[in-house]
Formats: sequence, structure tokens, C-alpha cells
Amino acid sequence: MRGKKVVVLTGAGISAESGIKTFRDNDGLWENYRIEDVATPQAWQADPELVWKFYQARRRQMKEVGPNPAHEALARLESELDDFTLITQNVDDLHERGGSLSIIHMHGRLETLRCEKSGQIEVRMSDEDLEDDFLFCNCCAESSRVRPDIVWFGEMPMQMDEIYDAIGSCDVFIVVGSSGHVYPAAGLASAARLAGAQTILVNFEMPINGYDFDEVHLGKAGEILPKLVEKWLAE
Ligand code: APR
Repeated sequence: MRGKKVVVLTGAGISAESGIKTFRDNDGLWENYRIEDVATPQAWQADPELVWKFYQARRRQMKEVGPNPAHEALARLESELDDFTLITQNVDDLHERGGSLSIIHMHGRLETLRCEKSGQIEVRMSDEDLEDDFLFCNCCAESSRVRPDIVWFGEMPMQMDEIYDAIGSCDVFIVVGSSGHVYPAAGLASAARLAGAQTILVNFEMPINGYDFDEVHLGKAGEILPKLVEKWLAE
């Protein structure tokens, strides 16, 4: 792995052992809600209060959990490699708290909020920012309501140019904890492979795009990723 250009994509599975629920396990619901009722622009328009309270609960929950050994293993990999890009679909800050320095949050972040008028984002994580009432921006002359800084279904993921640049030129592409259901993220493994990269998967179970990987490691990321990282760095 040393001397190679490495790109990693993470999904909800990497945060599962920290106590954050994944999206598509078990009952098909996300924290008791249907995804379309809380994670679409239509839901925000139809019932902003429900959507706001849902995300405020996610923001509060994030403060109560911590990174696990899988997050820390990726931070170690970053610190040892010269050319490393971490892309996450996760909106939590566990990669940051696990020690990763540079992270592309393609589906947005929970810790920032976005002005509905100007689109500017602000980090808003103080105690008074975590209650159920709507919050208003600090950027407009007449303060506007803010929305979660999240990429909802039907919206464009963030930093896609950077992501495709990294994918198109990498030697190794590693996916950790993602079910392969949501595009464009789910298509990155096949894009990397087409561009000539070796593709590696670390996931609890075989995802629907499992055939896109040259190497598959099934199990809990917190248990198997730290060992894999040590092995990769020793090679
Ligand atoms: N270690 C490794 N993998 C795990 C673990 C674990 N401890 N626990 C669960 N997994 C796996 C599951 O088997 C599943 O394949 O992680 C995957 C999680 O899949 P999803 O819940 O579908 O999460 P993800 O792929 O990140 O979802 C993509 O969908 O709802 C949207 O925007 C949201 O970013 C999210 C996107």
C-alpha cells in the first residue's frame, strides 16, 4: 500500500460500532422513520418541523458517541501514506474525532447548518443550538432560517469533481461499511476498477455491488480494519 495512491469510501457501517444506526439493516426504517419522510427536500417543504426535530436528535446523538477502532485505523493509514483521500457518506464527525485530517463529506455534515437564503454554512453545535426550535443564520442582515447541511435524496452530492478526480487516478480503492444502494457513491467502486484500481471491500455482509471488488473482507470494521491496516502498511 505504501507508495500507492489510495482512496477510501466509508458508509454507515463504519459508525455502527460507535452506536449510530445504519440505514438499511433490520426493519428498513431509519431511527423509526421512513427515509422519504425525513431525508428529502419534499419532506422539508411539507413538514419542516418533523425534519428539523429529526436532525436535531441526530446532532444531539452525535455528541454522545465516539469514534471506534475502524475510524482510528483510517486515521493511521492517512498518517502513514503520502497520497490518501478519505471520502465519507456519513454525516457524523467520527472520522474527524478519530484523527482523520482531510475528509470529503459527500452527503453533508450534521455539525454545520445551512442558511436557506444565502446557502452559507455555519458550525452550530453549542447546547442552545441543539434544541428542537428552528435556528436562524448569522449571515443575512435579516436572519433567515437554517436547514440541515445534509444532501437529501434528489439533491446533488458535494465535491463530486474532486471525488471523480481521486477515483480516476487511484491505485487502490477501499470501501468500508456501505450497502451499495445509493448512487453515485455505489458506482465509485466500478468506476475505480474501470480506471485500473485494485478494489477492496470491508463490510459486515456482502453488499449488492459486491461483484465490483477484487478483495472482500466480511466482518465488523472495528475488528478487522485495524488488522488489515497494519498488514497493508507492512507490505
Ligand atoms: N462493520 C462493517 N460493516 C457494517 C457494520 C460493521 N460493524 N455494521 C453494518 N455494516 C454494513 C451493513 O452490512 C451494510 O451493508 O454497513 C452497511 C450499511 O449500509 P447502509 O445502512 O445502506 O449505509 P450506507 O451504504 O452508508 O448508505 C448510503 O444512504 O440513506 C442514505 O445518505 C444516506 O449516506 C447514506 C446512504
